[in-house]
Amino acid sequence: MLFVSPDNPSGSVYPEAEVRAIGEWAVKNNVWVITDEIYEHLTYGEHKFTSMPTLVPELANQCLIVNGVAKTYAMTGWRVGWMIGPKDIMKAATNFQSHATSNVANVSQVAALAAVSGDLSAVHMMREAFARRGALMHKMLSTIPGVTCMEPQGAFYCFPNFSGLLHRDIKGKTANSTLELADMILTDVNVAIVPGEAFGAPGFARFSFALGDDDLVDGIQRIIDYVK
Ligand SMILES: Cc1ncc(COP(=O)(O)O)c(C=O)c1O
Repeated sequence: MLFVSPDNPSGSVYPEAEVRAIGEWAVKNNVWVITDEIYEHLTYGEHKFTSMPTLVPELANQCLIVNGVAKTYAMTGWRVGWMIGPKDIMKAATNFQSHATSNVANVSQVAALAAVSGDLSAVHMMREAFARRGALMHKMLSTIPGVTCMEPQGAFYCFPNFSGLLHRDIKGKTANSTLELADMILTDVNVAIVPGEAFGAPGFARFSFALGDDDLVDGIQRIIDYVK
């Protein structure tokens, strides 16, 4: 089972009791778990990250944790991540990677080491900025008639239900899917969103709030003006 919390694309965070229950279920049913903890430091309000093998230590022998520097340290593109799990699996993964990609660029590894050796003060600053931007984006999206949107709990995405914008006239065009709607929005108002089809969730759209406040307001306002 692949488990992601905080989640991309929904921006949701599983509560502790559910993470524990899922972990206990996996142990009982002998299911291996890969848990992707890359957004562990990006949660908002009362929502808190919890790690499944920490809550359910009996899971450790059938669990892999994956994580990396991309989100916590805003180091997307440096291509450094890590995996924690049983030794034999780590050995096999290392052998596989050494033949598949040789190694992670040394300069990236040194930069990542500097990041993980430091404190988390920069992350805490970024988390405040993300919390503000997520709330702002959620508020703006929620003003569009027919659109519903959960307030983001973690990561940096809003994932509104855009199905109310389909099958109706928008400036002389009609979108029959969020894939088509994303294309129209990109072509006509130059804003990039990821259609829910990319995640097996047609009718939804993923909005990233990992960008500056002014650009965020400008982008969402263009969509509001476009569809109204
Ligand atoms: C859930 C999740 N895991 C992992 C990653 C990968 O990050 P990277 O390949 O940049 O380390 C992403 C990036 O979007 C993500 O959303």
